[in-house]
Amino acid sequence: MKLNQNKTPLYDAVVAYTKRDITPMFMPAHMMGRAINPKWTDLAGETIFRMDICEVDGLDDLNEPDGVILEAQKLAADAWGAAESFFIVNGTSSANISAICSVVSEGETIIVPRNCHKSVIYGLILSGAVPVFAFPQVSDELGLIGGMNPAEIERVYRENPQAKAVLSVVPTYHGVYSDLTSISDIVHKHGGIHIVDEAHGNHVYFNDRYPAGGLRCGADIVTQSTHKVSGSLSQSSMLHVNSDLVDLHRLRFNLKMTQNTSPSGLLEISLDLARHYMVTQGQSVLERVYHLVEYGKAEIEKIEGFSIIDRRIAGICHIADMEPGRLVISARDLGLTGYDLEAMLIGNYGIQIEFSDNFYIVCMVGLGGTRADLDRLIAACREISAGHKGRRPLAKWRNKLPAMPEAVMTPRQAYVAPVETVSWAAARGRVSAEMIVPYPPGIPAICPGERISDEVWEFLEDQSKQGRHLHGVSGGSLDTIRVVK
Ligand SMILES: Cc1ncc(COP(=O)(O)O)c(C=O)c1O
Repeated sequence: MKLNQNKTPLYDAVVAYTKRDITPMFMPAHMMGRAINPKWTDLAGETIFRMDICEVDGLDDLNEPDGVILEAQKLAADAWGAAESFFIVNGTSSANISAICSVVSEGETIIVPRNCHKSVIYGLILSGAVPVFAFPQVSDELGLIGGMNPAEIERVYRENPQAKAVLSVVPTYHGVYSDLTSISDIVHKHGGIHIVDEAHGNHVYFNDRYPAGGLRCGADIVTQSTHKVSGSLSQSSMLHVNSDLVDLHRLRFNLKMTQNTSPSGLLEISLDLARHYMVTQGQSVLERVYHLVEYGKAEIEKIEGFSIIDRRIAGICHIADMEPGRLVISARDLGLTGYDLEAMLIGNYGIQIEFSDNFYIVCMVGLGGTRADLDRLIAACREISAGHKGRRPLAKWRNKLPAMPEAVMTPRQAYVAPVETVSWAAARGRVSAEMIVPYPPGIPAICPGERISDEVWEFLEDQSKQGRHLHGVSGGSLDTIRVVK
C-alpha cells in the first residue's frame, strides 16, 4: 500500500462539520438529529444523527466526488489493490447491475453462472444483454453447489465467441471458491471482461490464511458487500476496477443511475472507517476469527450426528478453496434439515444464524464474533444431538436438474413483454416471466424468457410436492405463474 492508510478523510470531515456552529437549513429534515423521535434518541443518543449529513459544505458528493469522498475512495483502491474504487450505498445489488450494464448492451452476450444472485438477472434485464449460462459442478454427495470448472467457461466461450464478458460468483454463500485465476486467463484470452461478484469476500485481502480475492486473480471488476464481511453498515458496498478494459465513464454513469442522489452520509463514512479498520486491524481480527472457527469446527465435529464442511473438501467438484471464516454445519445424520436446525437454534436457544438450506446452516463468525458465541452454539448443538439420538439420517440428495430450457427471448424482452398470470397447470410450454429457484441447490430451474418445458414443469411440480423451497415464485406457491402473453 502506498498511501497513508491511517487517514479517515471522510469520517474526519463529517466529525469536523458536526462541531461547527452551523444553522442547519438543509435536508434531511431532522436537522442533524433535532427532530428524531425521542424514543430512538433516548436509546441511541444524538451523535449518530448529527452525522447523518451529505453533500453539505466540505463533505463532497458521492455522485461527482472531487474532495474527501474521492480521497476516501483512493485509499480504498490502495487498500484492496485496485486501480479505482467506488463507494456504493445501494448494496452489491446495485454494483452488479452497474457493472453488467457497463460491459454489455442490448443484444450482446455475457456468460453468467446459473447460480448467480438475482441482482445479476436484474442487470440482464436492464442491459438487455443475452445471457449464456455456465453451470457450476453440483455435488450430490455433499448436497452443495461446488466451484465453476474453468473448462466449463472455456467450453461456453468457444460456443459463444461473441461473448463480451463473464461473471463469476466467488465465494458463494457456503464459502465456495472457484479457480478465479484460470477463469480470468480464459476470459482475457477470448478478449472479454471478467466481473467477480465478491459480495461475500472483501475481507480476504487482509489475512493470508484466507483465499486470494478476485482483484489478485486477474478480475477486471469486483463487487463487494463491505457490510456483509468487513464491518461497514448494512447496504454499504464497494466496486473496484482493475483494468483498462472497462469504460469508466459508462460505469460512473451507471453508478449514478442505480444509486440515490441523497446518499446516506452514515453509509459513506462507514465505508471509510471499514477500510481503515481492515487495513489497521484486519490481519489480527481475521486471525482471531480463523481460530474461533477452527475451535468451533473441532468441537462441533465431536458431537454425534453433526458434521462440518470446510476447505478439506477442496478438490471436490472444482472447489478451489473454502472461506475459512464461516461455519457450515449439517445435522443430516440426525434427520434434521438446515431449516430444522435454524428453527431450533433461534426458537430454543436464541441463536440467529445467517442462512439455511436442506442440509446446512451457515453461521457467520464475523469480525465481532466471540468465543462465548461459539460456546453457546456448541452447547445448543450438543443438546439438539442428545434430543435426536437414533433418528434416521436424511436421504442423500438425488436431484437431477432438468436440461437447460430453451431461451425464447432475453430476460429484458420477457420483462417488457405483456405478461399474464396463469395457473401452474396451464404453464407447460409457456415462456416464463419469472425466475424459480429450488433450494437446494439454489440453481434456477427457469429464468425470465425461458420456455417451461415438460421436463422443467415436471421437475418443479415434483419439487413443490416434496415441499422444497422454491424461491422467486410470486405469491410463494406454485399455484400460479406469470408468463409472457
Ligand atoms: C452472491 C451475492 N451477490 C450479491 C448480493 C447482493 O448484495 P447486497 O445485499 O449488498 O445488495 C448478495 C446478497 O446476498 C449475494 O449473496
